[in-house]
This record gives sequence, structure tokens and C-alpha cells, in this order.
Amino acid sequence: MERKNFFLQYNIVLTFLAFLFLVTEGAPQSALVTQLPGFNGTFHSKHYAGYVDIDERHGKNLYYYFVESERNPSKDPVVLWLNGGPGCSSFDGFVYEHGPFNFEAGKTNDSLPILHNNPYSWSKVSNIIYLDAPVGVGLSYSNDKADYDTGDLKTASDTHSFLLKWFEIYPEFLTNQFYISGESYAGIYVPTLASDIAKGIDAGVKPAINFKGYMVGNGVTDDIIDSNAFVPFQHGMGLISDKIFEEANAACQGNFYNETSQHCKDMIGKINRNVDDLNTYDILEPCYHNTVPDVTTDNSRLPMSFRKLGETKRSFPVRKRMFGRAWPYNAPVREGLVPSWPEVLKHTNYVPCISDRIATVWLNNEDVRKAIHAEPITVIGRWRLCSNKLIFTHDTGSMIPYHKNLTARGYRALIYSGDHDMCVPYTGSEKWTSSLGYAIVDEWRPWYTKEEIQGSQQVAGYTQGYANNLTFLTIKGAGHTVPEYKPLEALEFYERWLEGKKI
Ligand SMILES: *[C@@H]1O[C@H](CO)[C@@H](O)[C@H](O)[C@H]1NC(C)=O
Ligand SMILES: *[C@@H]1O[C@H](CO)[C@@H](O)[C@H](O)[C@H]1NC(C)=O
Ligand SMILES: *[C@@H]1O[C@H](CO)[C@@H](O)[C@H](O)[C@H]1NC(C)=O
Ligand SMILES: *[C@@H]1O[C@H](CO)[C@@H](O)[C@H](O)[C@H]1NC(C)=O
Ligand SMILES: *[C@@H]1O[C@H](CO)[C@@H](O)[C@H](O)[C@H]1NC(C)=O
Repeated sequence: MERKNFFLQYNIVLTFLAFLFLVTEGAPQSALVTQLPGFNGTFHSKHYAGYVDIDERHGKNLYYYFVESERNPSKDPVVLWLNGGPGCSSFDGFVYEHGPFNFEAGKTNDSLPILHNNPYSWSKVSNIIYLDAPVGVGLSYSNDKADYDTGDLKTASDTHSFLLKWFEIYPEFLTNQFYISGESYAGIYVPTLASDIAKGIDAGVKPAINFKGYMVGNGVTDDIIDSNAFVPFQHGMGLISDKIFEEANAACQGNFYNETSQHCKDMIGKINRNVDDLNTYDILEPCYHNTVPDVTTDNSRLPMSFRKLGETKRSFPVRKRMFGRAWPYNAPVREGLVPSWPEVLKHTNYVPCISDRIATVWLNNEDVRKAIHAEPITVIGRWRLCSNKLIFTHDTGSMIPYHKNLTARGYRALIYSGDHDMCVPYTGSEKWTSSLGYAIVDEWRPWYTKEEIQGSQQVAGYTQGYANNLTFLTIKGAGHTVPEYKPLEALEFYERWLEGKKI
């Protein structure tokens, strides 16, 4: 009897050891995140974080935070998330948009935020990698500062190197479907990276990435189309009158990209004076045009009529001030050197409508750095939402040829847009997607969330589907960072699109 028990236990121990061996063969246990300052609950899935050195001679260390799916990590897709800038950290997405936690501001400016599980986290339905790229951004760094002089092409090839190494460390995810996603300047990062991955697959580069498609939100795409999109947006939203619109159109002959006459310049000046005080990232939201503390979660100083505008399902108000991209207001993205933050801020010393306090406090706390396997401040300096270390050149031009190539080769693409964003407005994304000339297979129509209000489904935005698996989608009432404003709607379209269902 005793002997039998011994055998039973012995077998259990053996089975357990074999299981441990299998489990530890993939994801590195040293990267596992087991607790986080400010978080008191239980993790809904496994989290891993750390560095991947993509060039050992330089010590070129890219930082990632990986959240496994809360549903079925071995079957759900793996999605890479990239914020824009250029130079902005993907912790913007993690902290403010679709990460596993909602961050509640601490009591004072400097106290740690309190973390709650986010019911609309994109990790509900996917494995997701938040990557700080290129080096010099967020928690990523290089021992050779010359690496901070970079551009679109180098960023794409470095991120591709990162992915190849990442999949070597996490081989159990190689068979999952893989997607790339991002917003704002990631409108450049995503298609350029997708193109490098596609070329790698064609060339038989190992490990083979099971790449299926990509998603871009309010993405920078083509300088002429993006620039010409502002005035029609401002007109359609009722921010300028018919008369001003018509006069500007006539003076500029529909070309607002490079003003050809003094009359056109004057009209653009008049339009800018009408919209300058708006929150460019969501025209429905208030904007503080000075450095007032934004730590308060209290809306009570706002006029009554403003309090409900842009209201979301998120338990905390959206940021009144935030970063979008690193160049001056209403300026299109041009070829060449992108101005650095100090250059952008030369005249004003502050960026209107911008806030990063919660993330800044959290990521500059040494206990947090330890918990997420990031180097301390003494080694890599303070974390900033958008880096001031880069010299960044936009060296790839328009993304339209990239989108044509990728979609023609069978990669799926979702181009989504918060329709109240004036930073990269939907009018431009709508125009360039239709300019590809693909047949419309799902004509412009509303889309709905599953949730019913008083028994009625609600319109969440509009969509138009094209041949070659290209989908254009708007999110009604959302700003530049869609999931920050409309987390429920964002999780719904994200899930349906990833699963290949009709949105
Ligand atoms: C953390 O959890 C403990 C035990 O459940 C509880 O007593 C404490 O109030 C919690 N703290 C916060 C900040 O939620
Ligand atoms: C499309 O991409 C493939 C590989 O990704 C490349 O070989 C080809 O030259 C590209 N075609 C165009 C027209 O850019
Ligand atoms: C001005 O913009 C138009 C498109 O709106 C473009 O065709 C033209 O080449 C541009 N001219 C210059 C000098 O950039
Ligand atoms: C909080 O921030 C505001 C604005 O930057 C500043 O005026 C105030 O002194 C800060 N309070 C504390 C306690 O640090
Ligand atoms: C659209 O995507 C599906 C699923 O990945 C794929 O099977 C199909 O071939 C794609 N269609 C086109 C036209 O690329």
C-alpha cells in the first residue's frame, strides 16, 4: 500500500518535471512579470518583458512588453503594437489605450498610479507585443549613440530583426497568425515593416513568420493626400463656414499642400485661426493651452455642456493633453528630417493638449523598472512619452505603393480612423484607400456594437470594404488614439477583424 503510494507520488513528480521542462522550453521564465507596483489584483494572463539585443557589437537593445491572450494564447493571433511620433513609446498604447490595465492617477503628482484590470484590453482576444522602437525611444537604448540617428528604413529593418529574434525566444508562437498594428506615425512604421517581413518570407528567412496582415489607426500615409484632408474635414465638421471653404477652395484650387498664391496662404491662415484653440486630437474634447496640472480626474471645472462630450466607457477621463506626433500643429509630414521636440517647442515651451503624467510617474519608478525588467534611470535615463534623443529622417515617401503591394499579395489590411481626430483626419484615410482603385465589395454602411442600449444596437461608425481584403473603418466620436476614447468599440472591431468576420 505504502509502496503503491510512493509510486504514485513518484509518477506525479516525474510528470510534473516533464511538464515543467516542456513549459520552460519556450517563453523564458526570467522574462516573466510576476507583480507590478500599483497592482493588487491577479493577472488575467501571463506577462513577459525585457530586452532583445539585435546587434551585440553596439548593444542595440529593444524593449518589449508581451501580454499573452486571456482567451487561448496558443490559438489566438500574435499582434505587434507600435505607437508613432516618430519617437513615441508604445507604452502610450499600454497605459492609455488598450493595455491590460486601466491606470488610475495617484493622489498627488508624484504618487504611483493604481492599476485595475482593463475589461477592454486587446489581450482579451490576442497575444500582444508592445515594442519601443527604434532604439532611443521609451525604454529601448543603444550603447552606441550613433544609432539614434535613424529613419523609416532603418527602423523597419531593426524591428524586423527584433521580431526574428523574438520568435526564436518564443518559438511556441511561430504557428499563430501574426499581425502588425499601430497608429499615427506608425502609418509609416507598419507598412514599411510589413514589407520587410514579406520580403523575408519570400527569401526563406528563418524563423518563418506566419504574417497575415496589418492594421493602421489614424495613420500618416501620403503627404499630399494627408495635407489636402484638413480643410474638407474642418468644413464637414462645421469648424469653418461654407463661405470660407468655398473661398479657400477657389484660391488654392483644392491644393492646400503647397499654397501657390498669397490669397491661398491668407485663406489657410484664416482657417487656422478658427481651429487653433481646438484639441487637435479630438475636436470634441477641451484643450488646456498652458501647463495646468492634469493629474486631476475631476471634470467639475468644465462647463456643464462640455462634461459629457467625448464620454467613454473608460472609468477615467481621457487625457486633456497628449502627444500625437512630433511636428507642429497642422503641419503635414514632409520628406526629410522630422523636427525634434525641442525644435517644435521653441516658440511655446509647451505642447497644447498634451499629458503623459501617469505613465511618466509609473515608468520612472525604480520598483516598476525592476518589475518590468527595464534598466534603471541611472543606466538609460528617464522614460519620456516621446523621445528627444532621435535624429529621425522620413525617408520612404508615400505609403501608397507599399499598401498596393502588400494588399495585392494577399495580406489583409484594416485602415481605421477616429472620425473626430484633426491630427490625421479620416478624410485623408478615406481618400487614399479609395484611391487604390480596388472594387468596392461592401459599400459604405454603418457598423454596430453588440451591446444594445434600451433594446437597440448603436451605430459605432462606418465602414467600406474593398477587394484584396482592404477595409476602411471609422469610429464615431473617437479621436486620434481610438481605444483611449472608445475602448468597447475598439475591442469589438479588433476582435471581428482579426477573426476575419464581418465588422
Ligand atoms: C490590496 O489588497 C488588500 C488585500 O486584498 C487590501 O486590503 C488593500 O486595501 C488593497 N489595496 C488597494 C490599494 O487596493
Ligand atoms: C512588392 O514586394 C515584393 C517583395 O515583398 C518585391 O519583391 C517587389 O519588388 C515589390 N513590388 C513593387 C512594385 O514594389
Ligand atoms: C504642389 O502640390 C501638388 C499636389 O497638390 C503637387 O502635384 C505639386 O507637385 C506640388 N508642387 C511642389 C513644388 O511641391
Ligand atoms: C503638481 O503639479 C503642478 C503643475 O506642474 C505644480 O504646480 C504643483 O506644485 C505640483 N504639486 C506637487 C505636490 O508636486
Ligand atoms: C483575403 O484573406 C483571406 C484570409 O486570410 C484569404 O484566404 C484570401 O485569399 C484573401 N483574399 C484576397 C483577394 O487576397
